[in-house]
Amino acid sequence: MNKDIVCVGAGYIGGPTMAVIAKMNPSRRVWVVDINKERIDAWNSDNLPIYEPGLDEVVREVRGKNLFFTTDIEGCIKKCDIVFVGVNTPTKMFGRGAGRASDLQFWEATARNIAKWAESDKIVVEKSTLPVRTAAAMSAILNTHESLKFTVLSNPEFLAEGTAIKDLLSPDRVLIGGPADEAGKRAVDEIVDIYAGESDCWVPREKILTTNVWSAELTKLAANAMLAQRVSSVNALSQLCEATGADIGEVARVMGADTRIGSKFLKAGPGFGGSCFKKDVLNLVYLCETFGLKDAALYWNQVIAMNDSQQRRIVERLFHALFNTIANKKIAVFGFAFKADTGDTRETPSGAVVRMLHEEHARLAITDPKALPNAKKDLADIMDGSIELVEDPYEAAKDADAVLVMTDWKQYPALDWSNIYASMRKPALVFDARNCLAAEELRKIGFKTLNIGK
Ligand code: UDX
Repeated sequence: MNKDIVCVGAGYIGGPTMAVIAKMNPSRRVWVVDINKERIDAWNSDNLPIYEPGLDEVVREVRGKNLFFTTDIEGCIKKCDIVFVGVNTPTKMFGRGAGRASDLQFWEATARNIAKWAESDKIVVEKSTLPVRTAAAMSAILNTHESLKFTVLSNPEFLAEGTAIKDLLSPDRVLIGGPADEAGKRAVDEIVDIYAGESDCWVPREKILTTNVWSAELTKLAANAMLAQRVSSVNALSQLCEATGADIGEVARVMGADTRIGSKFLKAGPGFGGSCFKKDVLNLVYLCETFGLKDAALYWNQVIAMNDSQQRRIVERLFHALFNTIANKKIAVFGFAFKADTGDTRETPSGAVVRMLHEEHARLAITDPKALPNAKKDLADIMDGSIELVEDPYEAAKDADAVLVMTDWKQYPALDWSNIYASMRKPALVFDARNCLAAEELRKIGFKTLNIGK
């Protein structure tokens, strides 16, 4: 068995993960393959297809040395005995489980390709988030081969966008799930070695946790569902704070000081977005339903319902603050990405809110330092003359009735808010849905202000 690695799928998972694996394992050759030529060309250019702080540097360091991007899936499967699979698993939009289950056709096609082209035994590592027990199905497809042996492992990815390189370089933990038989244990050890890095320079071995395959698959969904649930819980409390005069910042600070609760993921805001949380919670709901666990399904579903409610509530509060009519008023939306430091707009709360405001016939000027190209694609179906995408936040706010802050870009608190105030229609409102601006200062300037949970 050789030590070379190929990752099928050059997306948010494959690109950054393989770049760091190559950096930490200089004597292994690492290939990233994708059927999408444009994407591979971008990985080979100076303009990488995804924005991630620190990614450029790592790619520049290893690309062409021991990291290669190519569309030659067949050649790479033949060459490498360790195959990571990081293809996308979007929510299925048709048939059984539509809107909740994962669409596994890319995964299955990849498995069939591996079986078709392999000329030696392989370790196949699932990195995409997949429903529990997918590895068993994959193993069944792969092991129809007469002479070769494929061992399927689960190595879910926990990196968050915006901090992917940091998370990869010093992860809280790495999880590898594998079968309990001898071949399974050997395969797990191979993958542990990759993460330990050459001369154990990367992840300390005690942080590399091994489990059975199904636990590993479920842990990924479970971890994201627990985080999403914290966000929904704190947002549910923020609504109560708004109604009672309590302040969610204070409540969260004191709650978080209890070491049993901890301070992370207690920030109230417009709700969670991103590629993982909603998809994974819905997957969990679907799994519970499949096993007849109705109450468990309802429980997790409520995490999503709360998130939707938080976005509807932002629009309702804005509506009241603008004297119960938004039609024809100009609203400057600051931030379209689902969080700061990424251009990613998948499931972004800003998108949901923009659509609701558009239905109210608002005029919208959307600004974002990284996400405008994605905003243009996402909103293509409603891009009539009433929506503008504007690079410059000052320009976006000009003549607006309200500024609605939807993403906590660090640029926003640093803007010259007196200048913005002067250029807006009066009374000028700032609705800070991320609680990231100095509200007291804004009120001194003359703004009316709204926040979440206070
Ligand atoms: C998440 C998980 O963190 C990661 O481990 C997993 O692999 C993929 O999903 P990501 O989607 O990149 O990563 O973003 P994350 O930083 O976790 O934020 C998710 C969403 O929750 C964002 O929209 C964020 O703004 C929101 N959030 C987060 C809050 O509203 N409040 C918080 O306190 C924390």
